Amino acid sequence: MHPLASKFQEVFGTPPDVIASAPGRVNLIGEHVDFLDGFVLPFAISDATTVAIAKNSSNKIRCASIQKKGAVSTIDCANIAPKSGEAWARYPIGVLWSLGIDTGLDILVDGQVPLGAGLSSSAALECAVATAINELFNLGLTLPELARAAQRAENIYVGMPCGIMDQSVSLMATEGNALLLDTRDLSIEQIPFNIAPLGLELLVIDTQVHHALVDGGYAERRASCEKAIADLDITSLRDISISEFVARKPELDEKTYLRAFHGVTEMQRVLDAVTLLKAGDFVGFGEIVTAAHISLRDYYTVSCPELNLAVDTALKFGALGSRMIGGGFGGSAIALIKAKDSDLIKNEIKSGFMKARFKSPRFFSALPSAGARIIN
Ligand code: GLA
Repeated sequence: MHPLASKFQEVFGTPPDVIASAPGRVNLIGEHVDFLDGFVLPFAISDATTVAIAKNSSNKIRCASIQKKGAVSTIDCANIAPKSGEAWARYPIGVLWSLGIDTGLDILVDGQVPLGAGLSSSAALECAVATAINELFNLGLTLPELARAAQRAENIYVGMPCGIMDQSVSLMATEGNALLLDTRDLSIEQIPFNIAPLGLELLVIDTQVHHALVDGGYAERRASCEKAIADLDITSLRDISISEFVARKPELDEKTYLRAFHGVTEMQRVLDAVTLLKAGDFVGFGEIVTAAHISLRDYYTVSCPELNLAVDTALKFGALGSRMIGGGFGGSAIALIKAKDSDLIKNEIKSGFMKARFKSPRFFSALPSAGARIIN
């Protein structure tokens, strides 16, 4: 029996009907452009969230989590409406709402993606639930349809205006590959990212500054980009070249210009990065990754001192490229490093953090893993 099935039995007194899991992600490049029709290049990590679900004969949704010691949070099916339910349970319930499920269910969550680390623990939870519900109710939805449903849950039910990257990669990733996703139509290309044989490693540095993206910074940046689109009277930042955008600078206020400049240039960086990856040019790829950090730090202004110190230290001690990932204001940075430099870089970052009196960072090594799956 799967360990979560026996836990489920302990909490709810019956066996689960279905168990599914979905991973978190790191993003190689393409930050804050997944709500702008841009390209992104994330991959799924091996840390995943697993959910066990069973139909019950009541008209209640009961949610519990291993990380909350099995305490059960209950909501009447009749009361399922955006922003209702206990805060953490809004992610799974939001997916039910989004998929139009309104019958009694028991849900047990085992979240193994670090929370608040910028590794998309929310999307992992949403996508695990979406995958399980698709199976349990024979909905026959495609992966892009499930991704949209999970995003709708987060946008409307939870109230976080995220893009579509995290849900897409959690559902569509394949082992050994990064996912080149066109967020305009959700078309994808799997891009091999097999760096270990080259003596390279992708180090993830969790600054332990825990962000809560539901707080305004993310939405405020997104609104600036939407203002730029309105002020320039264009359909999307995808539809304007960098040179035309720069030429039309006088039409925008300074803040709007700088934030949208990040968006326009980041979309191009993703395409350039993919070309370099396909050519096996990891030095060039690393430089673009670092350029993305500078843009996020100076133009889009979503970095923080801890992320900047992690990136600067990794680069100083030999990283080919490094940048903050995810929404920002905390969370994690990545560094593409030579595996032989791993200990040195980690030690330097650790002692730099200590000197600056920052919290002690955590390190992971990330390998491209598979997306969501039914376990049984
Ligand atoms: C968060 C959001 C994503 C994306 C990133 C930034 O992770 O959930 O949709 O916008 O920030 O790239």
